Amino acid sequence: MIKISPSALACDLTKMGEELNEIKLAGADMIHLDVMDGVFVPNSSFGLAVLEALRKKSDMFFDVHLMIVNPEKYVERYITECGADLVTFHLEATDEVDFCIDTIKKYGKKAAISIKPKTPVEAVYPYLDRCDMVLIMTVEPGFGGQSFMPDMLDKVRSLRGEIKRRNLNVDIQVDGGINATTAKLATEAGANVLVAGSAVFKATNRKAAIDALR
Ligand code: DX5
Ligand code: ZN
Repeated sequence: MIKISPSALACDLTKMGEELNEIKLAGADMIHLDVMDGVFVPNSSFGLAVLEALRKKSDMFFDVHLMIVNPEKYVERYITECGADLVTFHLEATDEVDFCIDTIKKYGKKAAISIKPKTPVEAVYPYLDRCDMVLIMTVEPGFGGQSFMPDMLDKVRSLRGEIKRRNLNVDIQVDGGINATTAKLATEAGANVLVAGSAVFKATNRKAAIDALR
């Protein structure tokens, strides 16, 4: 089953609550929330206060993508204050990978590790049996609207192979430049959770855009 997680970074940020409700009705499985700190990535977006407010307006599954340094300091608050259902942190951003996973699991939430394009996929293998999902970035994190990097498909393929070999149940998410064409390539390679910002929120018919991705 393919899941679609539209990225709120591309929505009308002056009315996020309404945008989330609309995207839910259009068939989105979850909402992808890109938290950027201006340090781990050369951009900043929204964080704890905004997500906490949004949680009161939406019952959607919150897929929180933390692009921040030292996520071990914040994962707990994204769960307790913002109601994150799935927390993704970057392998490159912390020396406390096990602590991050333990904290997320302690609250019964889903834990995911993400890697940037230059990080080899094997780097996540030691943590694979403790992860619910791995996010393979298909652009350099930091901005919406970039082009999909086809070289990342090999990482998706290798990871899917490793998950099968070890008989694990781990989702593979891709994020960056996903549209109907690249979605097909990514799912054929083994991805099953698709993040899409521009392709969904900038579409005139968002339901049709979600259906096309699926
Ligand atoms: C990029 C973010 C993405 C971004 C995707 O750093 O992690 O989630 O919003 O945007 P599109 O789908 O437009 O490439
Ligand atoms: Zn993202």
